[in-house]
Order: sequence, then C-alpha cells, then structure tokens
Amino acid sequence: MAVVAVTSELPGTGLERLAAVHEVRRHPRGSPPSAAELAALAAGADALVTLVSDRVDAALLAACPSVRVVANVAVGVNNVDLEAARAAGVWVTNTPDVLTEATADFTMALLLAVTRRLVEGDRVVRAGAFTGWRPDYMLGVGLQGRVLGIVGLGRIGRAVARRALAFGMTVHAHDPAPPAGPGLPVTLFSSLDAMLPTVDVLTLHCPLLPATRRLIDARRLALLPRGAYLVNASRGEVVDEAALVAALERGHLAGAALDVYEREPEVHPGLPGRDDVVLAPHLGSATRETRAAMVDLAIDNVLAVLAGRRPPTPVVEPGERGPGTGDRE
Ligand code: DGY
Repeated sequence: MAVVAVTSELPGTGLERLAAVHEVRRHPRGSPPSAAELAALAAGADALVTLVSDRVDAALLAACPSVRVVANVAVGVNNVDLEAARAAGVWVTNTPDVLTEATADFTMALLLAVTRRLVEGDRVVRAGAFTGWRPDYMLGVGLQGRVLGIVGLGRIGRAVARRALAFGMTVHAHDPAPPAGPGLPVTLFSSLDAMLPTVDVLTLHCPLLPATRRLIDARRLALLPRGAYLVNASRGEVVDEAALVAALERGHLAGAALDVYEREPEVHPGLPGRDDVVLAPHLGSATRETRAAMVDLAIDNVLAVLAGRRPPTPVVEPGERGPGTGDRE
C-alpha cells in the first residue's frame, strides 16, 4: 500500500477508489496548504494530488524524494515546475479533454454576460432600480456577424470556436503551433498583432508559459479596435491587469469578462467597482460532472504510476528530454 498526499477535499468518488487500495493523507479542509504545510503533507508520500493553487517547485520535490507522480487536478500545469520534475524523475499528469466542453460553455457565458450587460442588469433589478422597459435602456451588442479572436486553438479554443460559429460569429484565431487542419471555418493569423485590430471580442485559451505571461499588455490592448471586449478564462497572468484597467478607464475597451486573475485570488482594485466588467471566481470547469471527471482522471493517473504503468495523461515523463505536452489546453 502506497501513501498518496492529497492537498484538498475533492468532489466525486475518485478519492474513495484511491482509498480502497492506498493510504490517503489529506490536507484538512480549509485554505490551500502553505509551502511548509505542503512539504509536511508530501513528506514520505509516493504520490501527490495537487490543485492549481499548490506550488510544486524544485524545493518541494527535493524535500519529498519518494514522490513518483504529481497528479494535477487541472489541465493547466503552470503551478508545477516541469523542469524540476523532469530532473527529479517524477511523472507530472494533468486532466485534459474532460473539462473542454464545460470551459467552452463558461467562456460563452462570460462573453454573453459582458456583451449583453447581464450582471449589470441583475444588479439594477436587485437594487430595486428597474423602472420599466424602455427602447434605449441598457443596450449591449449582438454577436451575430461580429468577429471573435481566439488566442490558443487547442481543445478549448476549438470548442469555443464551434460555439461562436453557431452564434453566427466569424472566428479568427492565433496559435503559434496551430493544430493540423482544425476542421473549422476559422481564419488563422500567424501574427497575434495582425489579428488584434480585426476582432470585436478577444478570448484567451493559451496555457501560461514564459512566452504568454502578460501576452495581452498595454500595447496589444491598444491594437484592439475601440469598443472591443476581452474574455479571459485561461490564466490571469496572461493579461496585464493594470493595463486592462487603464484601457477600460479610457473607454478603449467596452468591457471585460474575467474568470481568472493575475494575483489570484486577489482581484485588481480597479475592477470590482466597474459596471463594464464581469468577474467570476475561476469557475470555467465548475460543473459537478466535469469536476468529478477531472478527479477521476487524476486518480487514474496516480493508480497507473503506483502500479508501474504509464499514466493516461502525462505531461512530464521521467527520463524524457525537452518539453512535455503541457503547452496546449
Ligand atoms: C484548469 O484545469 O487548468 C483550470 O483552470 C482549473 O479548473
């Protein structure tokens, strides 16, 4: 029987399956473990089940040499130092595919909420300030015929493209390594800077990598047409939040809908007071069935490694050279 350290309570039945065959050592309910708590939890463990809020770095891996696999309950693995894991001979796994449709649905919810002023309208009604229908009241913009620009045409980006096309949008996309034949009527731009002036709504679906940190900065926000919208359900650090606030303040952007934040869970103080932003607490994959499927896949990864088998969704494989597959969402 191996010891599996788990940093959080998890939905679904995956943990029961794990506990039937291995000892599960779980961080108590509450806030995410500090670095010291994480090291104490992982000490002597054979496997580690982590969330995006758990920092798995070289120091942690060095302090826990018995860990053979880090199974992240997320598709993004930016919380794990992949090079350090590779050097330590540790598998790193993620949970792709099972969250694609839920995250794409939520992206459309953000897009619709910001362009149709849904959250602002909800606040008006709750405040008792709705005085009746008027033809010029609280007008937003329609999606039909507008251009959606997608940054990152991986699984989630393509699922968003399918939905946007069904809403009558034209889809432009930028991806430094686009999938061969995306099979969708999407106009690909090899240059992000060339795509930005062409879009009405920009939505981000790239992983957080050194090359994508603050990819959407003041200069690129200025390349968007006046009146454009920004949607971000990828990682907060892809957007320079201060530059976003400035672009909203000067009216260059018509609005933004964010599910993720640069210093999550902190939110830039310039955002919550604005009516032209929709702010969600990192809910992209938050459906019961999706979260249960993510946990199941993470547990399958752990069980496979502990049984000496190749895990179903590896990002880093012990002994491999070069980057893993964590560069696509
Ligand atoms: C992911 O999977 O990377 C999400 O951000 C967490 O749901």
